Amino acid sequence: MKLFMFFVSVLLVTASAKIFERCELARKLKASGLDGYRGYSLPNWVCLSSWESSYNTAATNQNSDGSTDYGIFQINSRWWCNDFKTPRAKNACGINCSQLLTDNIDVAIKCAKRVVSDPNGMAAWVAWRNRCQGRDLSQYTAGCGV
Ligand SMILES: *[C@@H]1O[C@H](CO)[C@@H](O)[C@H](O)[C@H]1NC(C)=O
Repeated sequence: MKLFMFFVSVLLVTASAKIFERCELARKLKASGLDGYRGYSLPNWVCLSSWESSYNTAATNQNSDGSTDYGIFQINSRWWCNDFKTPRAKNACGINCSQLLTDNIDVAIKCAKRVVSDPNGMAAWVAWRNRCQGRDLSQYTAGCGV
């Protein structure tokens, strides 16, 4: 029974995961006002999503400090959302971290706008610093008509 429930929950989790296609995400992010937001052009946001989550809304990763990164932008529970298990969490976006894992990424986009509004901007994301910052990012929106 336990094993059965395990497979049921895997199915449920899988069913609620959405993996965006690159241009589909580019269009969604543009429509949500991220192109140029705080000075960061659209390819920066697509590059960030590519390296942080491979465009998977259900992506999670555990950090060594006990926090977890959630969703397409891998937003961290130490500062931005509450997962009810991270010590001294700040929840600056005022959300339940599980809201960052849904197919609908509106909440994730709103929280990302909050994150990038801090003085560090997109440097808050390690993957952006290592994989996107200062590079030619035109490939990330190429052929998307955006
Ligand atoms: C956070 O979201 C999860 C998943 O939707 C839910 O199970 C949980 O009850 C929520 N927690 C609170 C305190 O809202």
